[in-house]
Amino acid sequence: MLGAALGRGLVGQVRGFSAMASQGLIFRQLFEPVSCTYTYLLADQKTKEAVLIDPVLETANRDAQLVKDLGLKMVYAANTHCHADHITGTGLLKKLLPGCRSVISKDSGAIADIHIQEGDEVKFGNFFLEARSTPGHTDGCLTYVLNDKSMAFTGDALLIRGCGRTDFQQGCPNTLYHSVHSKIFTLPDSCLLYPAHDYKGQTVTTVEEEKRLNPRLTKSEGEFVKIMNNLNLPRPAQIDIAVPANLKCGIQD
Ligand SMILES: [Fe+2]
Repeated sequence: MLGAALGRGLVGQVRGFSAMASQGLIFRQLFEPVSCTYTYLLADQKTKEAVLIDPVLETANRDAQLVKDLGLKMVYAANTHCHADHITGTGLLKKLLPGCRSVISKDSGAIADIHIQEGDEVKFGNFFLEARSTPGHTDGCLTYVLNDKSMAFTGDALLIRGCGRTDFQQGCPNTLYHSVHSKIFTLPDSCLLYPAHDYKGQTVTTVEEEKRLNPRLTKSEGEFVKIMNNLNLPRPAQIDIAVPANLKCGIQD
């Protein structure tokens, strides 16, 4: 009986995996330890076209080397938003990997080769990332959802058991609450969520986990706003350098 149940479970898992259009996807989660930022590399194994999400200046050389080692062709370096805690690696990557174009939301107010908004698709090979507008941490925050909705890159809108702060850069807790509930929590429960940061060493979560366990976003909107307005966080150390640089795509004078 136990064997049969286990068997079914395994078949279910295998089926679940093979049903994902993410077969043939190259995926790497990369880490920058000073700002605890995750950079994501996604590529089509067949066509070799690749995208980087949220590269960091200090680790841009590492990322470019990995792209070369894997024989990939970087088509886009995309940011989830105009970061305040680190300088984006986008500007340097454009130099290191000719042909790579920078992508950011139109609402970010930042310079980039391509400005996108809700519903736009960032294509790489036979895959694409759907842009969902998830403001609240900043006005221009995007969540990138893989075409088969098996994974999403939430930037600072949703962190593992947390969320981005809302006390500067046009932050608004009410807006963030609605963004997460309407654009991220409506994804399939099994959808893997990859944040822009984690400060405790966690790497990934799911929609189901966060809907059940996120200590802030499981609360009512009123309670959420109260929590966010009383965090009393220190100003990010790099904000005065990072924001002006990121408004220019990380290209420094
Ligand atoms: Fe941020």
